[in-house]
Amino acid sequence: MNSANPILVTGGAGFIGSNFIHYILALQPEARIVNLDRLSYSGSLENLKDLPDPSRHIFVQGDIGDSTLVEDLLRQHRIETVVHFAAETHVDRSIASPEAFIEVNVVGTFRLLEACRRTWLPLANNRARFHHVSTDEVYGDIGPEEPASTERDTYRPNSPYAASKAGADHLVRAYARTYGLPVTISNCSNNYGPRQFPEKLVPLTILKALEGSPLPIYGDGRQIRDWVFVEDHSSALVRILDRGRPGETYHVGGGNQVSNIELVQLLCALLDGVRPALVNAPHSRLITHVADRPGHDRRYAMDFTKIRSELGWQPAYGLVRGLRETLQWYLDHADWLETIRTRPTYQEWLEQNYAVRQDPR
Ligand code: TYD
Repeated sequence: MNSANPILVTGGAGFIGSNFIHYILALQPEARIVNLDRLSYSGSLENLKDLPDPSRHIFVQGDIGDSTLVEDLLRQHRIETVVHFAAETHVDRSIASPEAFIEVNVVGTFRLLEACRRTWLPLANNRARFHHVSTDEVYGDIGPEEPASTERDTYRPNSPYAASKAGADHLVRAYARTYGLPVTISNCSNNYGPRQFPEKLVPLTILKALEGSPLPIYGDGRQIRDWVFVEDHSSALVRILDRGRPGETYHVGGGNQVSNIELVQLLCALLDGVRPALVNAPHSRLITHVADRPGHDRRYAMDFTKIRSELGWQPAYGLVRGLRETLQWYLDHADWLETIRTRPTYQEWLEQNYAVRQDPR
């Protein structure tokens, strides 16, 4: 990575993007960031408060699909590294309203690639890098005894979200092969940690447990995910930018495969431990099975041997330590959670997603 020039981060006001910015500014004293984010429902400038050194961060509100804006930013700041996080990410929203996922994840990624191609390729700059942050969901689900997904496995996305990320991955690959754009891709398993929007399982469970509301578990709750603490994801991305080979894909995993019900029970136990006096303790009595997600993938698991052996990366956090830190962050940032919880659009989403699930299984 060429640290003299700023990195363009797309979607840097969202959960993973903002954590990456916090992480890299703290890690690399010369790192500078241009952060392009349109501030949709899940992005917030609140996520960029308390940056290690705010003078090394420039925020630009705008769309990855605005090619003129992106090309201007690439030229004006002499950007040679793009880390592309901006995406619609919530599977349940992709089932309710798929179109935005195609617009942002597929068309938006296409426009961003085009902007990089037009700006970088005529310069024949061999330091340029386009990194696409993607997901394990592109592989679809794998059986309980099947080995974890490797970088050579076939894409079998099952939700509109997963299909849109698979489409974006394919475009990124095609731009490398056809035009020689220097790209890397990472596919990561489920992230959790500070600043995650509370529509996702971990922060939703924390928010609901704190307010004493039912903790919704889709179907039997035995779906398995591999959980990665977001800081580990950031460290993997820095490693790929530093040492990853252009044209390659790297899997990032946490080595923490658990079922949803086990995860929620663990969170409840941790909350009981830090707040035993809360009237709802033990919080596990709030667990409520609700109707399943259509097409719900039973299991994702990532084989991350490649990044471990080639780049020497491995996750630093076990699940209990990561969840404990996450829980503490939400307890310490009750105002952050409250701002989202009281937004009418957030309440509308809860109503829309959970009213239809009253009937278990
Ligand atoms: P989620 O956090 O939405 O991430 P993803 O679908 O990308 O894996 O969901 C994680 C798992 O938790 C997934 O199997 C769906 C399940 N889930 C519930 O059981 N209840 C809920 O209220 C939510 C939001 C998710």
